[in-house]
Amino acid sequence: MPAPSLDLGLTIAAGSKRELRLRNPVMVASGTFSNGLEFARRFDVDTLGAIVSKGTTLRPRRGNRTPRTVETPSGLINSIGFQNVGVSALIAEVAPVWARWRVPVLVNIMGETVAEYGRLAARLDDVDGVAALEVNVSCPNVEAGGMEYGQDPALAAQVVREVRRHSDLPMVVKVTPAVTDIRPIVTAITDTGADAITVMNTVPALAIDARARRPVLPTVFGGLSGPAIKPIALRAVYLAASATHLPILAAGGVSSGLDAVEFLLAGASAVQVGTATFRDPAAPWTVLRELTEWCEREGVRDLRELVGAARRRD
Ligand SMILES: Cc1cc2nc3c(=O)[nH]c(=O)nc-3n(C[C@H](O)[C@H](O)[C@H](O)COP(=O)(O)O)c2cc1C
Repeated sequence: MPAPSLDLGLTIAAGSKRELRLRNPVMVASGTFSNGLEFARRFDVDTLGAIVSKGTTLRPRRGNRTPRTVETPSGLINSIGFQNVGVSALIAEVAPVWARWRVPVLVNIMGETVAEYGRLAARLDDVDGVAALEVNVSCPNVEAGGMEYGQDPALAAQVVREVRRHSDLPMVVKVTPAVTDIRPIVTAITDTGADAITVMNTVPALAIDARARRPVLPTVFGGLSGPAIKPIALRAVYLAASATHLPILAAGGVSSGLDAVEFLLAGASAVQVGTATFRDPAAPWTVLRELTEWCEREGVRDLRELVGAARRRD
């Protein structure tokens, strides 16, 4: 008798009118896959679970001065500054291409004010090719003295409510590790209407050029990503899972199928592959293949067997 096939599928907002079905739990991380168009020329993007767009703002942005990235042992510090074409060009020129793909595309949005998040959500609602929103709350809030929305539960909740008021799309909210305790933020986001939570964005970091006696990046600080942050992300996922019943999409140093398994065991339902794609553009597909092989070897029939299995049950 043939073995029952492995079920890799995942549903976000299950049972609601916003239900979003992913055929597998391997996605790409925002800002590391551009808007996917270049990759689609070389790879079969439809075989991934989901694509996440570049961070998109209301108006086009040219980004920060260069250099914008610096390599560190096992990691990358970036300060791109949200270079992007802006939401109007995204809708006019990019979304029609996405509409021809089978893979769902989540648009990662970033506002400078709460109202801007709402306007972005309204613009993207009902656009063919846009399957869901990923709301990046790691943005300094100009209305509240520069604190990031994602660093304060009340501010994060305000953003989630505003996005929900303007859009019926499935809403994923992406949190920052730049907090003392991630749990109150995750609880606030869960209670105000998110459908899933991405854990996590980059870790605040600094690189110094000793010879020049100054910071390498013109913005001084940047965000650290890659294998260096995987243990931090695993802990963040573990903690987040104790504060929400929503699916957690894990990001932070995922570069192999085994990394994906570890994140599932910590409580994630899916993983996003980011910096690994800079080293090897095929990384998301490698992660998917290795995850599938691992499950077959271990006799896993349904990924839900793994989700949170390493968590303490006392
Ligand atoms: C060059 C670069 C650009 C990024 N741009 C965004 C972005 O626009 N929006 C966002 O939410 N996260 C952005 N991120 C964060 C990633 O999506 C991801 O959360 C983080 O890099 C951790 O995953 P990784 O270690 O697999 O890269 C960016 C990361 C990098 C390295």
